[in-house]
Amino acid sequence: MFYKIGRNDPCWCGSGKKYKTCHEAFDGRIKRAQMMGHIVPTHDIIKNPEQIERIKESCKINVAVLDYIEKNIHEGMNTAEIDKIVYDMTTDMGGIPAPLNYEGYPYSVCTSVNSQVCHGFPSEKAVLKNGDIINVDCSTILNGYFSDSSRMFCIGEVSEEREKLVRVTKECVELGLKEVKPWGFMGDMGQAVHDHAFANGYTVVREIGGHGVGLEFHEEPWVSYNTRRGEEMLLVPGMIFTIEPMVNMGRPDIWIDDKNDWEVYTEDGLDSAQWEIMVLVTEDGNEVLCW
Ligand code: MF3
Ligand code: CO
Repeated sequence: MFYKIGRNDPCWCGSGKKYKTCHEAFDGRIKRAQMMGHIVPTHDIIKNPEQIERIKESCKINVAVLDYIEKNIHEGMNTAEIDKIVYDMTTDMGGIPAPLNYEGYPYSVCTSVNSQVCHGFPSEKAVLKNGDIINVDCSTILNGYFSDSSRMFCIGEVSEEREKLVRVTKECVELGLKEVKPWGFMGDMGQAVHDHAFANGYTVVREIGGHGVGLEFHEEPWVSYNTRRGEEMLLVPGMIFTIEPMVNMGRPDIWIDDKNDWEVYTEDGLDSAQWEIMVLVTEDGNEVLCW
């Protein structure tokens, strides 16, 4: 993974600076972590400032779309209407909905209601009822740069139980985020997410996680929440990934609908919630790019 690069050669990051005054010390720090047995990032998932700016432009569309849905989602609306809003708004702003045709996914957005864990298909038949909880998962491609985030919405009067699941899941993401800092580990974040869910009597889905994002929809690393502090990938400035735990009221087990090979449900039929943010590791902590 380490290029043979001369100290006076231009840095691999594209800054135009000499390697010795740019990322040489940074690479040395990564190399030492690797020698101590840690999983370390490769250069191709470390974004430079120009790429970060372009990714942020993509994020603006994603956030605008979710803000609009947040204001307009309501009881009696069907999820195909949400799909149309996402498609129309994203394309009007010059973007492409990233889910559309992604590995055969047939819609512009994922809408997952109650016991649906993720990848729910928008449908005219899925009419939002009073008391439902729904995750709307939006992803945008703008000029080849990707953004990805999702929010939960409570429809009308939601039971205290459901309200708590939605709230605690959001807290899991916030607590995980606090652990994201350079030269820390992905497992610091994962354990914080898991511990908070567990302390509230919930479980976290094991099979589906977050991911690196920005230059591709799904990049390395795969982001799990069933991980321990000090483990998993070393975090370094310039990495961008999602924190998107799926938190279940009951058992963590899931099943995938074999009618379409996409829609995921809890096995025990109890509810599941998810929030997703996209976070950049900075020199002194982190920056949320998309929520
Ligand atoms: N936004 C989802 C994620 O967090 C995307 C799932 S793939 C799709 O990774 F095709 F369903 F969109
Ligand atoms: Co994602």
